[in-house]
Amino acid sequence: MSPGPRPHLPPSIPEEEWEEDSPGPVRVRVIRPEDIPAVIALSRGVYGAEGAWYTRELIAHQRVFPEGQLVAVHRESREPVGFAITLLLEARRFGIQANWNQLTGGGTLRTHDPERGDVLYGAGIAVDPKARGMGVGRLLYQAREAMAERLGVDRIRAGARIPGYGAVHRIMDPFRYVQEVVEGKRRDPTLSFQLHMGFNVLGVALNYLPLDRESRGHAAVVEWRRPPSRSLSAPEEDHQENHDHQEAAP
Ligand SMILES: CC(C)(COP(=O)(O)OP(=O)(O)OC[C@H]1O[C@@H](n2cnc3c(N)ncnc32)[C@H](O)[C@@H]1OP(=O)(O)O)[C@@H](O)C(=O)NCCC(=O)NCCS
Repeated sequence: MSPGPRPHLPPSIPEEEWEEDSPGPVRVRVIRPEDIPAVIALSRGVYGAEGAWYTRELIAHQRVFPEGQLVAVHRESREPVGFAITLLLEARRFGIQANWNQLTGGGTLRTHDPERGDVLYGAGIAVDPKARGMGVGRLLYQAREAMAERLGVDRIRAGARIPGYGAVHRIMDPFRYVQEVVEGKRRDPTLSFQLHMGFNVLGVALNYLPLDRESRGHAAVVEWRRPPSRSLSAPEEDHQENHDHQEAAP
């Protein structure tokens, strides 16, 4: 498939149009330069100093693809409670074994390709441990899905961490671990979340991110595809056909 050049959303697009509103206490909007220190602090709280994003990387994102960077902010305290870093990639340039550095240009997103990109790539997502289990991760994913739609791409891909693998790495390889998580025999704190969000596993990337000790450096390559849109005004006889078919089924 040749995607050809697509209209690139100009940076001048009003920021409000990128915000995903919701009635809850948290809303998602694009990261602004003034958010960077708080997002870095949040990232350190989740990954520790060694695995956290760097200020220079987030500054680079503002230059490369500001519309793609999301922060979840508590409405009243205005504090960030989660963030998601995203870029557009041309999928055929990267195989399943591509690692995080290759995919994200070492975290700077210099691999972002607004012209030929045909898959939205999740370079990172994190929610403040104190705010987990409250729907913040879901809001960020929904905002990514909306972003994919606006950009005219129908896939979102990511390297899903497998932090539960560290505990069992002596008794099984990461392929079997991922398989067991997919089959529901095990629950992983991150991969099970991605599966719950509608992602499918394409494969396992070995040494995807060596810094991720909990996952022993490995990741499951996961992909979400936008469901085909259904016509809301299906002809009357189609309804009848479906109805008949259901009645005939055992
Ligand atoms: C993974 C992470 C982003 C999830 O964020 P979260 O805000 O706690 O998730 P939410 O509360 O929005 O959960 C959304 C849904 O996923 C479900 N869910 C969350 N974690 C889950 C898990 N481990 N297994 C299965 N389902 C899970 C929730 O029950 C909820 O379901 P529902 O909306 O259908 O009721 C968060 O745990 C995190 O930041 N982890 C550390 C960083 C990380 O690993 N990031 C991923 C990098 S690949």
